[in-house]
Amino acid sequence: MAWIVAIIGSLAGFLFGYDEGIIAGSLGLIRDHFFLNEAHVGVMASALPFGALLGSMIIGGILASHFSKRFGRRSLLAFAGGLFFLGALSAAMAVNLIVLVSSRFVLGLAIGLASVTAPLYLAETAPGKIRGAIVAVYQLAITLGIVCAYFVNYLLIEQHAWRTMFASCAIPALMLFVGMFFLPESPRWLYRVGRKDDAARALQKLRGGESITEEFDHIAMTLAREPSGPQSWRLLFKKPLSPVLMLGVMLFCLQQLSGINVIIYFAPEIFKGLGFASATGQILATLGIGVVNVLVTIVALMAVDSIGRRKLLLVGFSGACLSLGALALFSLYQVPGLPYISVVCLVMYIFSFAISIGPVPHIAMSEIFPLHVRGAGMGLSAMTNWGFNTLVVFSFPLMQSSFGIEYTFAFYAVICFFGLLYTYFWMPETKNISLETIEDYLISGRPLAYLGRKLPHHSTADTLEDSDVVLDL
Ligand code: BGC
Repeated sequence: MAWIVAIIGSLAGFLFGYDEGIIAGSLGLIRDHFFLNEAHVGVMASALPFGALLGSMIIGGILASHFSKRFGRRSLLAFAGGLFFLGALSAAMAVNLIVLVSSRFVLGLAIGLASVTAPLYLAETAPGKIRGAIVAVYQLAITLGIVCAYFVNYLLIEQHAWRTMFASCAIPALMLFVGMFFLPESPRWLYRVGRKDDAARALQKLRGGESITEEFDHIAMTLAREPSGPQSWRLLFKKPLSPVLMLGVMLFCLQQLSGINVIIYFAPEIFKGLGFASATGQILATLGIGVVNVLVTIVALMAVDSIGRRKLLLVGFSGACLSLGALALFSLYQVPGLPYISVVCLVMYIFSFAISIGPVPHIAMSEIFPLHVRGAGMGLSAMTNWGFNTLVVFSFPLMQSSFGIEYTFAFYAVICFFGLLYTYFWMPETKNISLETIEDYLISGRPLAYLGRKLPHHSTADTLEDSDVVLDL
């Protein structure tokens, strides 16, 4: 049952990626259909992340207030599925730019709701020992959504069928909407709202024939210990939790400012600018980028618990900085063979992103916040994700036309360099540390940046006193 829940719950991640990816193939067609200028393109592309920003704000507000008792995770996800469905159909039938932008905004709202609720629902329903893998399936679903959208773009681009591209988003949306009615509600949420018998029934359904007594008692004990009430989210802004919020926010800020969604949303346009003449060639190159993104994400999921989040992130930011810097230089000097060199640089960039800059912020977000502020902390981190996503996607067409693609890439390369410095100085290592140990460490007021790291002037005991900790530099 755990994996069925993971697959249906991850449809939200798939839709997140699918709706992001579908714009890459449809943008050029829409531009010609509605005679759009650069500002229109910026508004059109950023309507989705802007809607997602609002959606994650709304859901953050709901989760941090007494409304969280009224709406279960399951109904919120089914509602998001319904919004995805309506948004997809109205985008497909749009008669003018206003309808199209509004529909993409509605799709964005759905993504914002789902991008907080789905990982929360998955983490709350997963058995403890595979919780990490199940949350990771969600990130994999995002990349699969992107690549499937690219594939649909490839099939439909020659027919100029942008309406069908948008309509195709309705299929996974319907699957999410219908699927949620067959899944159990989060036992943790049911217990919290006082429906203890329903919580036990939901947990039993999730665990099949296994005994649930120990897990159920654990849920009861943890919930009894937690600070509750609508104000508990305010603790995030005070020590010792403010550095945790800062890390969640900074990781997403750096992830988005690394320029990833410029590639995800505008890859065919970029390839066109770099010398790929045919629309099919541009989409094929884009499809290649999407496939690398999926494959490397699978490698990342296998490596993140052995190599560690921090080391992977150092590798990721270095690779992203070098590949973007090289791309900026090669396009500045218009070197011969630029289209092919640009594919190599972009593949290197996507490799560096997918190995760490992509998955690590999502993994860290689900690990670093103590339970009583997890919903609010995840909501605020997701808001940062979407806020900066909107900014980057909106500003790219304008930056490209004002400064040229080479200086725009150079800008993202500089941000990746800052990401490298930030990771070196501030990123803790949470691999192999239990969530409870992380929580105890943070509440004791010790510096977040030293968590799980061996420092020259600190003994092991100064850093952490837990036998499950593998110290790492
Ligand atoms: C990011 C998305 C991005 C995707 C690409 C995710 O981690 O949050 O904004 O489009 O990775 O794979």
